Amino acid sequence: MLAADTYFYFGIKSKISKKWRIAYITFSVVSLLYILYGTYAYFSGQKSSTLFRTYIWGGFMVVYISKLLACAWLIVDDLIRIFRWSKAKIKSDKESLENGISRKKFLQLSAVGTFGLFASTFFYGIFRGGYNYTIHHVNLKLKGLPKNFEGLKIVQISDLHVGSFLSSDPLEEAFAMINELKPDVIFFTGDLVNDVTEEAIPHQETLKKLKAKYGVYSILGNHDYGDYFYQPDDADYEKNKLHNKELMKKVHQDAGWDLLLNENRTLEIGGQKISIIGVENWGDGRFAKYGDLKKAYEGVNMDTVQLLLSHDPSHWDAQVRKDFPSAACTFSGHTHGMQFGIENKLIKWSPVQWRYPQWAGLYEKGEQQIYVNRGLGFVGYPGRVGISPEISLITLGKS
Ligand SMILES: [Fe+2]
Ligand SMILES: [Fe+2]
Repeated sequence: MLAADTYFYFGIKSKISKKWRIAYITFSVVSLLYILYGTYAYFSGQKSSTLFRTYIWGGFMVVYISKLLACAWLIVDDLIRIFRWSKAKIKSDKESLENGISRKKFLQLSAVGTFGLFASTFFYGIFRGGYNYTIHHVNLKLKGLPKNFEGLKIVQISDLHVGSFLSSDPLEEAFAMINELKPDVIFFTGDLVNDVTEEAIPHQETLKKLKAKYGVYSILGNHDYGDYFYQPDDADYEKNKLHNKELMKKVHQDAGWDLLLNENRTLEIGGQKISIIGVENWGDGRFAKYGDLKKAYEGVNMDTVQLLLSHDPSHWDAQVRKDFPSAACTFSGHTHGMQFGIENKLIKWSPVQWRYPQWAGLYEKGEQQIYVNRGLGFVGYPGRVGISPEISLITLGKS
């Protein structure tokens, strides 16, 4: 980051006044020191306030990343300069060599413009984009769905990451929108917090407000185990992890949510039944694998339509489709649509699709489907650009 910052500074230096140069250097030094301090504080187990940990840290990062992206123009400029210098050298053009090869004004201005464009877009994403709650209407057709379940309204939400909110107001707004939909069932597919369960305590009264006719079913995500906060070499590692999980169970219970930890439930309407199965987090690669499908499936009537909750969509290809072909639809979250991308009637794109083939919306392979929710909150970058926070309204039908 320091290298990119220095490179950007020397690239545009001749285009800004002395006053702005001093402001630039001061800002860079302060932000770099803050980022270093914030990173040190995080890894040494200090828990600073959300404002500092999320927003000020995120704001500085936005400026740095915008500079990094804008450097592309300066690299082009420097490549042209190297070419022109080599040409002058070969031709022994003394005048050009002595006076130096000047920067191209157009490319310098493009770099400044690109920085401005990205920085303003990312800041807009922090102040507005992160709270632009959007309802996605989905018709989910399932083979063998009992008649009494046709038209059942499921609202799915995911990745609340409540530790990123300065107050409960955004949650209150989103939950009011959800309750207005009068859902029959609500699925919450994990990542309630960022680091530790304590982040949820200030929002406990709000969490209780989520209402559905046949209940709220929830699971855990990779952020809900304290794995990004407690370090294995801490003396009280096991104790802290256990405390984190027990408190997490209590938070779900107090909210009135039915937390499924490798468990299942039967939902019965007028004598007809479907199964809801919830696994603990299972992610491919470096992600923890607490999920146990076999255990979660114990006692499930295999003749029922099975709806599976699994936080990480990579679980679907890795295990669900292979080992449990009877799971009609899996409900996941986790990707957040990277909180960055383009989504409209013509284009649906985010860099996260290079990592997760199923990253947003409904997918089908053979007789199985998966719905990936884009998440309601945010983590890391404290906002969203192009991929809005999602409330999914899924209406069941018979295929
Ligand atoms: Fe998440
Ligand atoms: Fe996640």
